[in-house]
Amino acid sequence: MKLETVCSFCGKSQNEVKRLVASPDGVSFICDNCIDICKEIVKEQEQPIIPNKFVLPTPKQLKTELDKFIIGQDNAKRAMAVAVYNHYKRLNHNFTPSDENKVELDKSNVLILGPTGVGKTLIARTLARILKVPFANIDATTLTEAGYVGDDVETVLQKLLVNANYDIKKAEMGIVYIDEIDKIAKKAEGRNLSRDVSGEGVQQALLKMLEGSVATVPISQGRKHPHQEVIEMNTNNILFICGGAFVKLNSIIQERQTYHSLGFEHEEKPENQTYKFAKQVCPADLIEFGLIPEFVGRLPVVVSLDALDEDALVQILKTPKNSLVSQFQTIFKMDGIDLKFEDDALKEIAKRALALNVGARGLRTVLEEAMLDIMYELPNNTSGKTIVLNSKNLKPSYSVQDKISKFNTVAS
Ligand SMILES: Nc1ncnc2c1ncn2[C@@H]1O[C@H](COP(=O)(O)OP(=O)(O)OP(=O)(O)O)[C@@H](O)[C@H]1O
Ligand SMILES: [Mg+2]
Repeated sequence: MKLETVCSFCGKSQNEVKRLVASPDGVSFICDNCIDICKEIVKEQEQPIIPNKFVLPTPKQLKTELDKFIIGQDNAKRAMAVAVYNHYKRLNHNFTPSDENKVELDKSNVLILGPTGVGKTLIARTLARILKVPFANIDATTLTEAGYVGDDVETVLQKLLVNANYDIKKAEMGIVYIDEIDKIAKKAEGRNLSRDVSGEGVQQALLKMLEGSVATVPISQGRKHPHQEVIEMNTNNILFICGGAFVKLNSIIQERQTYHSLGFEHEEKPENQTYKFAKQVCPADLIEFGLIPEFVGRLPVVVSLDALDEDALVQILKTPKNSLVSQFQTIFKMDGIDLKFEDDALKEIAKRALALNVGARGLRTVLEEAMLDIMYELPNNTSGKTIVLNSKNLKPSYSVQDKISKFNTVAS
């Protein structure tokens, strides 16, 4: 008796399917239905988004998440959200297997401009945290051309590798923030005959890394030596964000605009227009500033941040997660004291911080100074008390006792 031929996968007989295909040895069979299902499975597996199941939030979701930590800077947050989204979307795309029609997407690193202490590093760091990718923050001023005293540019990658717990795959998808990039601007020509090892030299050295290349990174930290253990790291999928204050950039932009407006004279002086023009920056301005053209070309996305005003500083004091107000309240709570800030106290702190001209960084300086005497007395205060700060009792006073006695300390 002849055995009925059935699909070895679903068990259907020849009569129930369109086609049955036999294996080369003629022992097993597969039907057209099961072939279709197998095709689907293979296709699905060919699209692992980014390794480790990277779920990419939309730019809107990224912006909403940034809003929890960064006050103001709406345009910058939007632009950064889009830039980061596009970068990781590009990764998704390039990770999928290629067919002949596949377009390879190039990398777009980001240049972020804005005065000191307004959130440049914070935005970059927060984005890395939201995406759960490793982050490295390095100061461009510590870098020198290879062979000179100072850090080679590869140190940037070494830091990223350390922060990724030496997981090379993770590190290769991380975000690197290079701060103070304006400080490695080219020195004015002719001024210095020696090589510009910490300016143009570093820009040159960074080019390959920014563009995407395989770099040799020393594994152990410390001084360079020839027998160091090294690892090869591909920078093709690393997002580089370069940030700086670019203080003189405004006058360069303004000069260009005045020139192009055929003799039209701006009435305001450049210093009154701090960062008003940063949004209109073009590559030529950055080159005039001292960045070499190849370097500017590798930072196609330019984002500018605004200076923070008094209202923004008040918000920064009280609204973000881990705000300074909640940090101080936590410190006081450890001694059993409820610390309260009245609105006018927050305004006063913001006003003093604004005068320091260092952005939101001034807030901590002002608060530390204003709270020093109270914190000195803290352990002597019995717990269960409430301290209410307002603009009057916040005023710095020369006598500790006098200052403490002015505090509205009420037993609760
Ligand atoms: N827009 C903001 N919202 C909330 N907090 C902010 C904001 N800007 C700055 N801060 C606070 O100030 C600190 C310093 O900000 P950040 O390090 O981002 O400054 P920066 O723009 O990188 O300055 P620099 O040019 O000096 O490096 C942050 O850690 C944060 O606490
Ligand atoms: Mg910074």
